[in-house]
Amino acid sequence: MHIQILGSAAGGGFPQWNCNCHNCRGVRDGSLRAQPRTQSSIALSDDGVNWILCNASPDIRAQIEAFPALQPARKVRDTAIGAIILLDSQIDHCTGLLTLREGCPHKVWCTEMVHQDLTSGFPLFTMLDHWNGGLQHQLIELGGVPFSIPTCPNLSITAIALRSSAPPYSPHRGNPHPGDNIGLFVEDLRTGSTLFYAPGLGQVDEALLAWMRRADCLLVDGTLWRDDEMRHCGVGDKLGSEMGHLPQSGPGGMLEVLDGLPASRKILIHINNTNPILNVDSPERAQLAAHGVDVAWDGMSINL
Ligand code: MLT
Ligand code: MN
Ligand code: ZN
Repeated sequence: MHIQILGSAAGGGFPQWNCNCHNCRGVRDGSLRAQPRTQSSIALSDDGVNWILCNASPDIRAQIEAFPALQPARKVRDTAIGAIILLDSQIDHCTGLLTLREGCPHKVWCTEMVHQDLTSGFPLFTMLDHWNGGLQHQLIELGGVPFSIPTCPNLSITAIALRSSAPPYSPHRGNPHPGDNIGLFVEDLRTGSTLFYAPGLGQVDEALLAWMRRADCLLVDGTLWRDDEMRHCGVGDKLGSEMGHLPQSGPGGMLEVLDGLPASRKILIHINNTNPILNVDSPERAQLAAHGVDVAWDGMSINL
């Protein structure tokens, strides 16, 4: 299984256009050892030729330019993206669909809840209907039944309902419904290798841990180091827990969760620009290293 990290930052990217926090200022003026990052998205493939895009970030255009395997190669107008999976209906995970309009129709796999948001509050499906067949919805069912996508027939994909948050514009923002957010458990049927991918993960329970225990590679929510990070950095009031993101530090935090799991690769993705782990020289980054946890970067390739 080929996993390509197209974008590794949370909403806003790194640096964020309007942010002058310690990290954003530091990466701009070079005083911080850190790499700029685009908004989170990955691509999956079983053969390295045909790809499934997981989330479509506002930065998709630059992400495709940075990864030749997705670029047109066979016809005058072409793409190696054969299907798109949306893990939620957040702006940083869906807005790239507008950029992909020239390539419609696209097959877009998402839950009923995500489809509802994207046909009402943020009506991407409705709008793009006017572009050559638009977005063809393929329903992702919950309940642990694996499905496959013709583009990558050797990947068996299971959607896992997660406790996280629907976007601020969604009627479900304060009233979570199963399917607002999912994680993906992906198994390569030829090699048996397994990935668990969840860029937005607010709570971990026993049922979820059972899936995470089976994964060779965990690619999970790295949004915030501490729950009150936005307040601590003076950039906002929202707590990570309100936004549906489990912080890495502290009791019950992501580091503690990952410590208890056998995966050989543990990688954080969807890193917010306030997070001290973006600074390669930070004590928090050293703590991650001591726990065997990596930080995803744009352009990172993982072969399982
Ligand atoms: C999130 O992950 O909580 C959202 O993407 C935040 C946002 O709207 O940028
Ligand atoms: Mn996000
Ligand atoms: Zn910032």
